[in-house]
Amino acid sequence: MTPDAATTPIRTLEGLDVRGKRVFVRVDFNVPLSGPAPADSNAPDEVITDDTRIRAAVPTIEKLLADGAALVLAAHLGRPKGVDPALSLARAAARLQQLLGESVTLAPAVVGDEVTAAAAALEPGVQGKRVLMLENVRYEAGETKNDPELAKAFAALSDGVFVNDAFGAAHRAHASTEGVAHYVEQSAAGLLLQGEVETLEGILENPGRPLVAIVGGAKVTDKIGVIDAFLDRADTVLIGGAMAFPFFKAQGHDIGSSLCEEEGVEPAARALRDAEAKGCRLLLPSDLSLGKEFSADTEQQDLDGVDTPDGWMGLDVGPKTAQAYREEILSAGSVFWNGPMGAFELAPFEPGTRTVAEAVAETKATTVVGGGDSAAALQQFGLGDQVTHLSTGGGASLELIEGKTLPGVEVLRGS
Ligand code: 3PG
Repeated sequence: MTPDAATTPIRTLEGLDVRGKRVFVRVDFNVPLSGPAPADSNAPDEVITDDTRIRAAVPTIEKLLADGAALVLAAHLGRPKGVDPALSLARAAARLQQLLGESVTLAPAVVGDEVTAAAAALEPGVQGKRVLMLENVRYEAGETKNDPELAKAFAALSDGVFVNDAFGAAHRAHASTEGVAHYVEQSAAGLLLQGEVETLEGILENPGRPLVAIVGGAKVTDKIGVIDAFLDRADTVLIGGAMAFPFFKAQGHDIGSSLCEEEGVEPAARALRDAEAKGCRLLLPSDLSLGKEFSADTEQQDLDGVDTPDGWMGLDVGPKTAQAYREEILSAGSVFWNGPMGAFELAPFEPGTRTVAEAVAETKATTVVGGGDSAAALQQFGLGDQVTHLSTGGGASLELIEGKTLPGVEVLRGS
C-alpha cells in the first residue's frame, strides 16, 4: 500500500446526490451454484448454495432506493467467454427480488438498445419500477479488458453516478469495477465495500494488541504476501494446513507423503529467518493428525511431533497444536484468520480447523476472517455470525492485506 493509498479516504454514499437519478451499481453476485440455470427469472433460489454476497449488498441497495434513486445493477458470475446461459444472473436477480421484496427486472443483455430502453424506463422513487439488473457483465469481452467504450456505455445507463459495492471484485481493473468511474460525475463506495476496506486496513494500521494472524491452506506461495505483511505487524503468526510442510522441510523434518509445495520451501525458509530478525513469533504445528491417503475412511493416527513416517501424510494439526493455537487466539487483542488448519472437508481431519474456528468465535478480540475456505469453514460450523468481520472477498481481501493496490478501490479515493 502506498502512503497515499493508506491515508486518502474513499468517497462514500454520504457525499452522493442520487435523488431522482439512475445510479450504476456494481455488486459482487459471484455466488456458488449447485445446478443449471433455469430459463426464467422466477428461478428457485435453491440453486444458489450460499447467498452471502447477495445479502451483503442489500444495505447499499436499500439505502440508495431510500435516498430516491433508481438502480442499474451490474455483476459477473463465473468466467464465461461470451454469452453462456448457464452463467445467467437470473437466479441472483430472483434471489435479490426476494430479499428486497420488490421487483428486480433482469435485462436481456449487458448493453445495447434493449438495455438502454430498459434503463430509460426506470422510475426513481417508484417502487417496482426502480431496479434493473444487467446480464452477466463478462458476456461482453470488453469487461475484463477494461474497454473504455464498454465503460462509457455503462456510465450512459446512469445519470452520471457510479457506486461500487463489489469488494470481492475490487482487485480487478475491469470496465464495470474501475473504467466506468472515469465517465461519471459522481462515484463512491457502497456500504459493503467501505466496511471491508476500513476493517481490513484497520487491522493492518491500528490493531488491538496482541495481534495474532492465523494463516493456513495448501500453498505457501498463495499466502506468502500475507505472511510477510503480518511478520511486519503481528505479534504472533500461527501456521496450519498443508502449507506447514514446506516450513518443516526447510527445517529438515521428514514429511512422509504429505502434500508439500516444493516452490514453497525457499519462501518458507526466508519467512522463518525474517520472523527471527523482526521479533515476530512464527509458530508451526507441534503435532499432527496423519492419514495414509486423502480420504475420510483412511487409516489414521496421531503423531506427537512432526517427523512424518513414510507412507503417511499430515492431514490436520494435532490436538496439542489446536489447544496451543486456541490459547493464543483467546488471549489476543485482534485476530486475522485466513485458511484452514487441515482437510476440514474430511470429518476425521476437521478438529484442528474446528478448534480454531470456535476460538475465533469465542475470543473477545476483534476478529477478521478472510473470504474463501476459512469463511466456508466458519459457515460449516455455524459460526459465521460470531466474528467481527467475515470478508466477502477472497482474492481481494488477500491482496489488500498484502498491500497491493485494488483498482476498484483506488478509483474511489480522494475528493
Ligand atoms: C471472487 O469470487 O473472488 C470474485 O467475485 C472475483 O472473481 P474472479 O476471480 O473471477 O475475478
